[in-house]
Amino acid sequence: MTFLITAGPTREPIDPVRYISNRSSGKMGYAIAEAALDAGHDVILISGPVNLTPPRSTNFISVSNSDEMFDAVHQHADSSDISVLCAAVADHKPAQVSPVKIKKRAGEFSLELVPTRDILQSLGWRQDRKFLLVGFAAETDHLEANAWQKLRKKNCDIIVANDVRVGMESDENELLILFRDGETKRISRAPKNFLARELVKIFLNSQQKSLTKKM
Ligand code: C5P
Repeated sequence: MTFLITAGPTREPIDPVRYISNRSSGKMGYAIAEAALDAGHDVILISGPVNLTPPRSTNFISVSNSDEMFDAVHQHADSSDISVLCAAVADHKPAQVSPVKIKKRAGEFSLELVPTRDILQSLGWRQDRKFLLVGFAAETDHLEANAWQKLRKKNCDIIVANDVRVGMESDENELLILFRDGETKRISRAPKNFLARELVKIFLNSQQKSLTKKM
C-alpha cells in the first residue's frame, strides 16, 4: 500500500522575514510515516517546516506554505491508497505578501487575512476519489461534536481527534477515532509511536473493508 501523509505546520508569509504559523511539531505525522514504513508500506511524506529528520526511504516533499502543500497533495494523492492529512495547515493567510520588509512604524498596524484553501475538504468532495481519506481534528473543547462535524463537512472516511492540551508539542497523545459509518474507537494516553502503529492498522483495516464493499 502507499500512504500519503501530511505533517507539521505551514508558514504563511507576511513579508520576506515574517510569517503566520502555529505550534505543530509534526511528531504525529512523522510517527505515522515511520509506522507505515516499518509495516512494509510506501510513504509519500509532505511536510511543513519542522525540527525532525524525515525517515529514510520516504518520498519526502518539503513545503512551506498552505498553497505549496495544497499543490503537492493534489499532485500525489491519486498515487496513494490511504491519504492521512495530519498537518496543521493555517486557516488564514495575509491577503497580500509584501515583497520588501515592512518597516517598523508607530501606532497600531493591522493585517488583512483571507482564508487558505482547505486541502482535506477539497479531496473529500472529489467525486473520483479512490483512496481512503483520513483527517485530524485538534480541539480544545467539545472534541467529539466538533470532530463529527468535521467528518461530515470535509466528507472524509475517518477523523482522528485529540485534545490539543494533551497532544500539542508532546511525545504522547490520547485519541478518539470516528468512522464515516458512525463507529467510534478510543485509544488512551500513550506515546505517539505506539499510537501511530495502532492507527496504521486501523487505516489498513478500513481501506480493506471499503475495497471489499466496492467489489
Ligand atoms: O478545520 P480544521 O483545520 O480544524 O481541520 C483539521 C483537518 O483538516 C486536518 O486533517 C488538517 O490537516 C486538514 N486541513 C487541511 N487544509 C486546511 C486546513 C485543515 O487539509 N487548509
